[in-house]
Amino acid sequence: MPRVLITGTSSGFGLSIAVELARAGWTVLATMRDTSKRNELDRAVQAAGVTRNVSVSQLDVTDPLSIDRALAELDITAGGLDAVVHNAGVAVGGAFEDLDETSIRRIMDVNYFGVLALTKRLLPVFRAQRRGRIVIISSESAFAGQPGNSPYCASKWAVEGWAESLAYEVEHFGIEIILVEPGPYRTSIWKNSQRVLPNDSAYRPLLKHLEVTVEAYVAKAAGDPVDVGKAVARVLSARRPHFRNPVGPTAKFQHFARGKLPTRVLRKILGGFLGLQKVRW
Ligand SMILES: NC(=O)c1ccc[n+]([C@@H]2O[C@H](COP(=O)([O-])OP(=O)(O)OC[C@H]3O[C@@H](n4cnc5c(N)ncnc54)[C@H](OP(=O)(O)O)[C@@H]3O)[C@@H](O)[C@H]2O)c1
Repeated sequence: MPRVLITGTSSGFGLSIAVELARAGWTVLATMRDTSKRNELDRAVQAAGVTRNVSVSQLDVTDPLSIDRALAELDITAGGLDAVVHNAGVAVGGAFEDLDETSIRRIMDVNYFGVLALTKRLLPVFRAQRRGRIVIISSESAFAGQPGNSPYCASKWAVEGWAESLAYEVEHFGIEIILVEPGPYRTSIWKNSQRVLPNDSAYRPLLKHLEVTVEAYVAKAAGDPVDVGKAVARVLSARRPHFRNPVGPTAKFQHFARGKLPTRVLRKILGGFLGLQKVRW
């Protein structure tokens, strides 16, 4: 059975991806930074009848020792690995001027440097095998900027630029890089995200407006994370997967619009969608 390592499987997409890949016949090395949170995954795996295909290990993508420990425990070098799914991710909401450097760096540490650190450790294994698929859970936030979400957008733009460059370097070794770019889905990321809005913020009217419109939009439009699990299973079984794979209607629209519409027009469309003209500054 092919083996896949997934990061951030305690909830959301990571959990769905683990279950869908186990169902599709993969041996799933499900990793999470805190294994005391494994109950939800255990229940889902049991309900799907795929307990034998899934093992759980501790892995914090920001901690090099934790990465080394997990790869040794999972015997990656000797046992081989067919794919990795970089799923772990965090967000912070707020106007850039109100965010402190620690919060911004945390987003880059997990969403960008975490992907690089684990990839660096796996490339020698994939090169020796002359095969391996690297899937990165990016976001529609990589297609266009979003107000109140600049560090998150920046982290996804960064990881996509890095991935697109790396693809040239590793294709000769049979290594493929695949981006999966979902729109909004019902996961814990909204609850887990830190939201920064100081009382004296100059951006209060905009952020208050976004709080209402984005929450209403997410409540109405957010999809089932199982769709993303299935999308990852599809790209991993495809003979020649696309590099970019938007998932969900808004991600597909933004993927289509990017590069076709001038940024000025795109900003007008997205600004209108968010009702930014109604903000009372
Ligand atoms: N939900 C959406 O609408 C959406 C849309 C587009 C893209 N995404 C992307 O999808 C991915 C998964 O997010 P989600 O929506 O499923 O949110 P989620 O339910 O909050 O899951 C995020 C996962 O990442 C883990 N994580 C955080 N920091 C970590 C670290 N340092 N090392 C290892 N794991 C870590 C979390 O573990 P803990 O439980 O320990 O915090 C959790 O398991 C992220 O990359 C996110 O940017 C989400």
